[in-house]
Amino acid sequence: MFKRFRRKRLNPVLRDLLQETHLSVNDFIYPLFIKSGEGIKKEVDSMPGVFQMSIDEILKECVVLKELGIYSIILFGIPKVKDSIGSDAMCEHGIIASSIRAIKEVHPDMFVVTDLCFCEYTDHGHCGVLDPVLETVDNDITLDNLAKQAVIHVKAGADMIAPSGMMDGMISSIRKGLDKVGFSHIPIMSYSTKFSSAYYGPFRDVAESSPSFGDRRSYQMNPANRKEAILESLADEEEGADILMVKPALAYLDIVRDIKENSSLPLAVYNVSGEYSMLKMAGEAGVIDYEKVMMETMIGFKRAGADIIISYHAKEVAELL
Ligand code: PBG
Ligand code: ZN
Repeated sequence: MFKRFRRKRLNPVLRDLLQETHLSVNDFIYPLFIKSGEGIKKEVDSMPGVFQMSIDEILKECVVLKELGIYSIILFGIPKVKDSIGSDAMCEHGIIASSIRAIKEVHPDMFVVTDLCFCEYTDHGHCGVLDPVLETVDNDITLDNLAKQAVIHVKAGADMIAPSGMMDGMISSIRKGLDKVGFSHIPIMSYSTKFSSAYYGPFRDVAESSPSFGDRRSYQMNPANRKEAILESLADEEEGADILMVKPALAYLDIVRDIKENSSLPLAVYNVSGEYSMLKMAGEAGVIDYEKVMMETMIGFKRAGADIIISYHAKEVAELL
């Protein structure tokens, strides 16, 4: 082993041999936002390059994704009708169940992950059923509904379930719900360490899911807490999660490393909407070299310990790889 890397005279082949971290198109899951209707492909002002699409457009988008080598997608639904409990999410004719069936029929080779939450489906925009007295989410009633939503998704053909609502006990409740009806082979990727973050701002435009009052601090995590962040993920591992996640990614790479070292489960990061928009806007303003900053950011996620990257940049990354 040589002691000094003579970088100034390093042979480029040796440089590649010594590279410790690598990006691959297989690392990525690409988010899609599905709106009910037909012929809809509407770019989101706050997220250039990200669209709300109707199912017919989503089917075309899958062709593009496969050409780029991206076979994993995570679905978010924007239903026609919202109500107090988010019924559309638990209905086999709801926007997500219908989308999964359509995608699986035309693109059976796509790996379809579904975001499991209620904030896009409730008229108040919170992640579950409200407790009228506390004016926040009723954890335990929401657990039953999450299990129902999971079964609806898997019956429609979902390959993996990704609960994002940070309800206590959500993993064991969903696991039991799925096992009971013969879906014990379906993995759960938990949004296990999800911070209460202002970086989700643009997502709430695209998913039309801003809470109509209050915020999500009663169920999402305080960004200041490191030990609690580890405990949250380990609790989900205990409950039977198959993949853990840290969200957002950029401001939390220390947490990614911590969880990687404390668990043997695969770990995902969610490179969220606000992180995407910051790079996009800075790139469009000519302030940074967008592609270089994007690739540097992605390799940073992997170096920190991420196995999977959920990112709106996935298509652009795939083009460069
Ligand atoms: C739903 C959900 C959110 C995101 C993923 N799933 C929004 C939220 O918690 O407010 C955010 C993703 C992003 O910002 O890109 N609970
Ligand atoms: Zn939610």
